[in-house]
Amino acid sequence: MSDLETLKRQAAERAVEYVASGMVVGLGTGSTAVHAVRRIGALLAEGRLQRIVGIPTAEVTAREAERAGVPLGTLDDHPSVDITIDGADEIDPQLNLIKGLGGALLREKIVAAASRRLIIVADAGKRVEQLGTRAPVPVEVIPFARRPAADYLTSLGARVVERRRDGQLFRTDEGNLILDCHFPGLTDPRGMAQLIRAQPGVVEHGLFLGLATEAIVAGERGVVVLEA
Ligand code: A5P
Repeated sequence: MSDLETLKRQAAERAVEYVASGMVVGLGTGSTAVHAVRRIGALLAEGRLQRIVGIPTAEVTAREAERAGVPLGTLDDHPSVDITIDGADEIDPQLNLIKGLGGALLREKIVAAASRRLIIVADAGKRVEQLGTRAPVPVEVIPFARRPAADYLTSLGARVVERRRDGQLFRTDEGNLILDCHFPGLTDPRGMAQLIRAQPGVVEHGLFLGLATEAIVAGERGVVVLEA
């Protein structure tokens, strides 16, 4: 396992220490959160955790949870989530986030909003002083709105790149498109979030503001727990 992968695993496994038997747990998506899914599965197999219901934030995560032996449920049956463990692409000092480079931002935000605690797990490379300095803000749009939404986001100062995979337009689990919006840093993420949401056809964006309760960040000098 590479050094970076070890850091991701350390952060995710520390977060799983917050999970107790009987909890409804939001299962995040991405290369860091997957370690939490696997760890929960291992603890269930050992009998050290029991009666866990996982709410997956993506189809790929649901499949991973099934492989790991984590029982799954839905928000219809479990509308209140005790803890969600998820990754992030950027984390600012107030624990505001950019998420969605994995394409699961819509379900991730729905599960985060339904959660009493949102624990973000990441390697130290995800910490930034200002959002938007390293990662683009992913914006999920319905296909019909592709062109007007892209033009509107450009008018807000973004360099807009349509996300593609294997040469094809990337489709989210909901069948939508992602427009990656590269900004030269965001001095007012809240204001920008409102502006982005104002455009018809925009379903959701990857600015997660005021949602994370903790961030567990693993770096060369150890694992730190940051609180909002
Ligand atoms: C998935 O849509 C994302 O929000 C991920 O949580 C985020 O991109 C972090 O992924 P990694 O842990 O793979 O960097």
